[in-house]
Amino acid sequence: MTSIGVLVSGRGSNLQALIDASLSGNLGAQIGLVISNRPGVEALARASRAGIPNVALDHRGRSREAHDREMAARLQAAGVVLVCLAGYMRLVSKEFLTAFEERILNVHPSLLPAFPGLDAQRQALEHGVQVTGATVHFVTEGLDSGPIVLQEAVPVKPTDTEKSLSDRILEAEHRIYPRAVSLVLGKRYRIAGRRVLLEEA
Ligand code: GRF
Repeated sequence: MTSIGVLVSGRGSNLQALIDASLSGNLGAQIGLVISNRPGVEALARASRAGIPNVALDHRGRSREAHDREMAARLQAAGVVLVCLAGYMRLVSKEFLTAFEERILNVHPSLLPAFPGLDAQRQALEHGVQVTGATVHFVTEGLDSGPIVLQEAVPVKPTDTEKSLSDRILEAEHRIYPRAVSLVLGKRYRIAGRRVLLEEA
């Protein structure tokens, strides 16, 4: 059975979407290991409830390189072929990127390249866009800038608050992340420059 790893830092609702898709046979993989850089977070409890091996590797007091080297070793030992960042609130080191080249995905709450970085939903409201959304992309050097696998647009309503908009974007994230993982695992794409050309499209 194909195995993926998931990196988390907090609530873990995207992890839950991946767990649910895996259990219903829609992911094409099992989740072999969940790693959190923060101990005691809800995402780890979600993994435990689903019987998925999980570990907290606290990044505090260690260099990014040392922390990421341990993560890579654990993921490789678990035999994962793809690493999914799901609310993982840290940049990964160059060495980590090399260890999993073209095999790391991230989900971001905007239509990239608009609003990279933190508080993408607030950025969208402050900018006054009428459409924002969710993006799943390959992770490369540079913040939220790798080739885009899937996006879903989400309209911004005049009555939206940061919370209501974030909630609506999150539903889109939960729809596109499992689909993107399944596409990438099934190798139903090729990369041409910055473009990810999907076979299903
Ligand atoms: C999501 O909005 C994700 O796009 C962003 O952080 C949030 C994580 O939420 N990177 P969760 O931990 O998956 O619930």
